[in-house]
Amino acid sequence: MADLPKALADAAAEVEIMLDTVLAADGAPERRIYDAMRYTTLGGGKRLRPFLVMESARLFDVPKASALRAGAALELIHCYSLVHDDLPAMDDDDLRRGKPTVHKQFDEATAILAGDGLLTLAFEVLADAATHADAGIRAALVLALARAAGVRGMVGGQMIDLEAETKTLNLAEITELQKLKTGALIGFGCEAGAIMGKAPAKDRSALRAYADTLGLAFQIADDLLDVEGSVEETGKAVGKDANAGKATFVSLLGVVGARKKASELVDQAVSHLASFDARADLLRLTARFVVDRRN
Ligand code: IPE
Ligand code: IPE
Ligand code: MG
Ligand code: MG
Ligand code: MG
Repeated sequence: MADLPKALADAAAEVEIMLDTVLAADGAPERRIYDAMRYTTLGGGKRLRPFLVMESARLFDVPKASALRAGAALELIHCYSLVHDDLPAMDDDDLRRGKPTVHKQFDEATAILAGDGLLTLAFEVLADAATHADAGIRAALVLALARAAGVRGMVGGQMIDLEAETKTLNLAEITELQKLKTGALIGFGCEAGAIMGKAPAKDRSALRAYADTLGLAFQIADDLLDVEGSVEETGKAVGKDANAGKATFVSLLGVVGARKKASELVDQAVSHLASFDARADLLRLTARFVVDRRN
């Protein structure tokens, strides 16, 4: 039986080493920006997105070194999105991963630049020949991550999310918002392995369907944790969505309805993996994990 907690912890440790490597400052004069980037990226987070890259890569026998670099690139984008999400102009949060947010620990301008630096570095990591010998594959990774992170992905989702504080959204609109805001990066996580492994189209679309469902379930759990979780568990402030009057799955479906929906999505996500063998077992377990998690 696959042991998900151990696999997650092992992957997180390997990703940590890769992140530490790509964030090496090498005595740079712009030391402060590296300090802020390292402060926010190292030593925290579940590292779920790189784990998805590594597990999707495993399905197609992609070398681990490639998977680790692609996973680290995705985590850099995720960390940048969190730094900017926490800024006073956005969610105005003081705590992230159990520590003061970057703009609290450093200052606002440094937080903006640290986000910019992480975003740019992610593409530098992907485009580097060390990520994959095949330049075509590197270009495909860059394209997929750019799409996932940009206006038709995470950034666009964040824009609609801010508007959701003052607008009433229906279920279809919330679903679309969450697909962009959270689902797109999770989608890249699952697709990256297929890209690097030159997987057949049917495997790629199965992973895409899994990722879409997983992303929604993941965000419903985040919304539930904002209502039911504690600062100690999540390492971030709770009760923020309701305070901001933000439309979420929970505001629309209620806690019970949202939990039921998340549970249905777990079963759906697993069903999309039906064509894969036991190598997909950790991905199957991940679907349940994302809704049962307490952080
Ligand atoms: C938090 O993501 C932001 C959302 C997209 C909901 P995670 O819950 O993956 O945060 P970390 O990386 O574990 O801190
Ligand atoms: C942010 O969503 C998702 C990102 C793209 C950064 P939230 O604003 O709900 O994330 P948390 O709750 O602050 O982690
Ligand atoms: Mg936000
Ligand atoms: Mg936030
Ligand atoms: Mg949230």
